[in-house]
Amino acid sequence: MIEKKELEVELEKLEELQSITQPFLRLMMEYHCAMEEIATKLRNLNLEFAQVYNRNPFETIKTRIKSPSSILEKMQRRGYDITIGNLEEKLSDIAGVRVICSFQKDIYTLADLLLQQDDVVLLERKDYIQNPKQNGYRSLHLIVEVPIFLSSGKKMRKVEIQFRTIAMDFWASLDHKLRYKKDLKNAEMVAAELRECAETICGIDVKMQGILEQIEGDEGYGCRMD
Ligand code: GTP
Ligand code: MG
Repeated sequence: MIEKKELEVELEKLEELQSITQPFLRLMMEYHCAMEEIATKLRNLNLEFAQVYNRNPFETIKTRIKSPSSILEKMQRRGYDITIGNLEEKLSDIAGVRVICSFQKDIYTLADLLLQQDDVVLLERKDYIQNPKQNGYRSLHLIVEVPIFLSSGKKMRKVEIQFRTIAMDFWASLDHKLRYKKDLKNAEMVAAELRECAETICGIDVKMQGILEQIEGDEGYGCRMD
């Protein structure tokens, strides 16, 4: 049977937790709104391209909100106190959008068109396609800020956008498995094989785009429908 004193202490803790939980849930909701704003902007570009140019600049779009445990793990790993202010300031990937394109050229077209929109603010751009990581990783990363409109007014929230080709995505998912595999025998050999695959994949991406341009002309954007 729980003592009255013990119960009081437990209730106090619960209250303390709730005072963190409520603003945390609110913050996650705000990131969710920002993520949806960006995803909608990209989906709208895809719709327009389908109608005007008869092609889709991306194949798939994925969205995710970082899980509470991943958020805690990253904050602790980087040595930050868990406060709402620190979450807003120190993390830029709570809201994530991944855009998977068939062709490299579409990645840059989509990124440029998105950044031209006057409510999207670019905070950081990392081009791991022009400058691949040492392990072979390729993607274009943007950190943007976008306004969300709530009952309390307008707020800017950050979203991380990763653009990659289907082939780069295939590669990254296998690399992800390697990253989280501990005590793998031949880890170096596997990493070297994977690096080699990244080069091959890049060669194929470039070749496929060249073929597209030969089929559709220099612009590579298909036939305008209007
Ligand atoms: P994080 O602490 O992971 O956010 O790194 P960072 O702040 O230096 O950002 P960066 O832009 O390099 O990476 C952000 C995200 O891109 C990661 O969380 C992964 O989702 C993805 N990423 C980056 N590098 C790799 C890689 O080598 N392999 C795979 N599979 N994904 C990667
Ligand atoms: Mg990051």
